[in-house]
Amino acid sequence: MKVMVGVSGGIAAYKAAEVVRALQRQALEVRVVMTESAQQFVQPLTFAALTGHKVITNLWPQTGESELSTDSMDSSIEHIAEAQWADALVVAPATANILAKFAHGMADDFLTTMYLATTAPVLVAPAMNVNMWEHPATQANLETLKQRGVRVIEPGSGQLACGMVGPGRLAEPEFIANAVLNALGRSHDLAGEVVLITAGGTREALDPVRFLGNRSSGKMGYALAEAAQSRGAKVILVSAPSALYPPAHCELVKVTTADEMRAAVLSRMSEATLVIKSAAVADYRPSIVADQKLKRTGPMTVELLPTEDILAEVVRRRKPGQLIVGFAAETENQLENGRAKLLRKGVDAIVVNDVSRPGVGFDSDRNGATFLTASTAIDLPEMPKRTMADRILDEVVGLRRPQSLLVELSGMESDAANIVDSQSEPFDSGIQPPISTRRQIMIE
Ligand code: PMT
Repeated sequence: MKVMVGVSGGIAAYKAAEVVRALQRQALEVRVVMTESAQQFVQPLTFAALTGHKVITNLWPQTGESELSTDSMDSSIEHIAEAQWADALVVAPATANILAKFAHGMADDFLTTMYLATTAPVLVAPAMNVNMWEHPATQANLETLKQRGVRVIEPGSGQLACGMVGPGRLAEPEFIANAVLNALGRSHDLAGEVVLITAGGTREALDPVRFLGNRSSGKMGYALAEAAQSRGAKVILVSAPSALYPPAHCELVKVTTADEMRAAVLSRMSEATLVIKSAAVADYRPSIVADQKLKRTGPMTVELLPTEDILAEVVRRRKPGQLIVGFAAETENQLENGRAKLLRKGVDAIVVNDVSRPGVGFDSDRNGATFLTASTAIDLPEMPKRTMADRILDEVVGLRRPQSLLVELSGMESDAANIVDSQSEPFDSGIQPPISTRRQIMIE
């Protein structure tokens, strides 16, 4: 498959060579477009040598070229051909300037023109100074691009070329290459699956204007929806109120209360092969909802009634082969509490996240968690939620793999009757060969 790498300016431009190499390691054919400012940092020749192709540096004829020469005509229509050639366009590094141009539909050089002309998936891997990254203008541009389906490969945090510390470092080349592979559908490991995901925080009304709620933004659930969708799944996203735009091509079911979420989940769960419950569901609701806005008349006591435990109900109604993954938001004894929840709710796995630490968990772009099953605990250290979503799905896909087989060999001969599923009850064959003559092999 063919990938166009757009290199925009800034000191990180020199890292684009590593991105090209990472893509080539994935057996992708790569060509490069450079902006004018990128050429201040790296010579086009570097990329020409790496790719074996001419590097595109201009939309318009070079000085001295005749306006009507074949070359200039080639040049001015080349973006259309290149737009058709590429199966994906990835801009790495993407400067604040190129993001702004993309967001506003400007087309004043080859890269920006190609962005408008291509219908292939577009990915941007921003790299810039931390203040530029955090500036509302840049964030608004990124939001606009995300809404249009552009995949943003979040920058890493750390020491930046400008000397400042914070987010703004170009993502690792291997990570960028993986994102491109995903965009190209090369890891469609969830193809054929229907994934029902819950997201956001439910709201329980007190009166017509007030509610009991929580700090869930929906970011974790929406990231899971986007990741599952890009891995080939059909996604049903049952979302409590959230300010986020749903990922393209997901079916969005909007709910407000825990009761509404319960009804939506139960009515759609029979379609799902996998249910992931990342929503923060209210455990209690006021016993009475006032018809009119409550007046301030001194101290007030509100009686709360427990809501239904949707996850437990989903487990009770599960159909054969359906995987169910819960989340646990814990502020203390994460692993202990998480494991207790896993067993109590009877889910296949639970993602335990520490929601007491600043910068992760509720309403944050990052998360850190442990993926717990009855027999394993996989650490998912702090990372962007979108990355975490893929890591969680990697583990979920792992649950679908066939279980290990314990093959018993009597002497040197294998015997079908001696092949037992290590997960099943030990069978009583009556006669067992003497221990000394038996050998066991685990087949993964
Ligand atoms: O939305 P973000 O801002 O991105 O934040 C993400 C998150 C922190 C909300 C998310 O990562 C998370 O932890 N979600 C689960 C929050 C939660 O309600 O945890 P819990 O430990 O209270 O519930 C355990 C499980 O039971 C959850 O899967 C929950 O969806 C489910 N549950 C809880 C109560 C209830 N009445 N019905 C349920 O199904």
